[in-house]
Amino acid sequence: MLKKLFFNWKMNPASLSEASSLFTEFISLAQFQPQISLVVLPPYVYLSELNQQLQTSGVTNLKLGAQDLARYSAGAYTGQISGQMLKNMGCQYVLIGHSETREAYQLSHEQINQKLLQSLESGLVPILCVGHQSDKTITEINYPELSEQVTTALQNLPTEWQTEFYLAYEPVWAIGTGKTATNPIIEEVGQFLKQELAKLGLAKQVGILYGGSVDDVSIQELVKLQQIDGFLIGGASLKPEKFKTIAQVVANQV
Ligand code: PGA
Repeated sequence: MLKKLFFNWKMNPASLSEASSLFTEFISLAQFQPQISLVVLPPYVYLSELNQQLQTSGVTNLKLGAQDLARYSAGAYTGQISGQMLKNMGCQYVLIGHSETREAYQLSHEQINQKLLQSLESGLVPILCVGHQSDKTITEINYPELSEQVTTALQNLPTEWQTEFYLAYEPVWAIGTGKTATNPIIEEVGQFLKQELAKLGLAKQVGILYGGSVDDVSIQELVKLQQIDGFLIGGASLKPEKFKTIAQVVANQV
């Protein structure tokens, strides 16, 4: 199966007109590469307008997601956005526990778990990000830390839950640095994450993603990964020539 691509715009761009033109590039990419599944994760404030653009375009292989959601379903939580609001706005996916969000809000494992449960309750597909917060070297994999991040986030799931979900391996040192983990390390971690998920009875519906400096150059090597079902792309998702090359390389994958 072709690898799925997730594009995290982070806190970019600065205006609705820029967001709209950038999204137009994704719509034309989706039309040009109908066999590839694309998910764009823009800032909340652009979702409504981009959803209108998406509906008008008629493309079916491009979806919208959000970069975070509240731990609660509704109520007196100033500044928070609920899963239901996102769903009503046309979102189908939501990032949970991105390392930048974990750090900015000092999120505990329990809070990540609450967000995950909220995403399921709202009918959003979660993309749970895990990665070594405490890495010292590029080759050192902190398995206990990864295991804790996965198992604590996935506690108390509804037993009937069988829907799709994604686990994104993003070593913190690789995010926005131009350094990617090597393919053998990503394969090893991908295998480890699948084993952890199997212990929780969740192996079947989970796609494993890699994120961290995926761009038009690094994709040439990363596309060869066997254990990985897709990529989470940050910086390169703001540059049409870069994300179009990434999609082309994935489309050419055999
Ligand atoms: P990057 O970001 O591609 O700019 O490294 C990835 C991410 O933050 O998900």
